[in-house]
Amino acid sequence: MKILIVYFSRAGENYSGGSIKYLEKGNNEVLAEKLKALLPEADVFKIEPLKPYSDSYLICIDEAKEDLRKNARPALKENLKSVDEYDKIFLIYPIYWGTFPVHVFTFLESFDFSGKTIVPIVSHEGSGFGSSEVDLRKLLPNSEIQEGTAIYGSRVNSADSILEKLAKI
Ligand SMILES: Cc1cc2nc3c(=O)[nH]c(=O)nc-3n(C[C@H](O)[C@H](O)[C@H](O)COP(=O)(O)O)c2cc1C
Repeated sequence: MKILIVYFSRAGENYSGGSIKYLEKGNNEVLAEKLKALLPEADVFKIEPLKPYSDSYLICIDEAKEDLRKNARPALKENLKSVDEYDKIFLIYPIYWGTFPVHVFTFLESFDFSGKTIVPIVSHEGSGFGSSEVDLRKLLPNSEIQEGTAIYGSRVNSADSILEKLAKI
């Protein structure tokens, strides 16, 4: 079985554990690296905006809110050619305004995920999956969406045991 780990993650200022902090590495990048260590044979792809959001948390939340309001599908820095070869895809993303960042919509709308197993792994600051699970099922009606997990962004460093369980399924 061929596995892909896809993730979106933003380093820089973020709100975490009750205050604004500067993260050298985004929370989901930490999760993606941990999962890759558990699944060394998996391919990894980072969804990166062509025009990244601001490093400033307060500007970034406005930019992301406006993109969501406009239902934007911003261009990515690069994209995969295809996802045909993969059977299982771990989709790792932050919750932005209750769902996934619009760049994740751009990625998901680029390919046919029919028949593939998708495992959503989310980091958040209180919303859990938000509406992202429902949004995922709507976007990918012919995929098998597994239960996955939602982890507080401030707790990704202690997510090893849950990732180990997910990597084994
Ligand atoms: C633009 C923006 C919007 C966010 N919206 C939410 C939200 O609606 N609910 C929530 O629980 N967390 C929200 N967060 C917190 C992130 O989901 C959380 O910090 C996540 O771990 C960030 O992952 P990253 O460091 O990999 O980018 C938001 C963060 C940002 C930057």
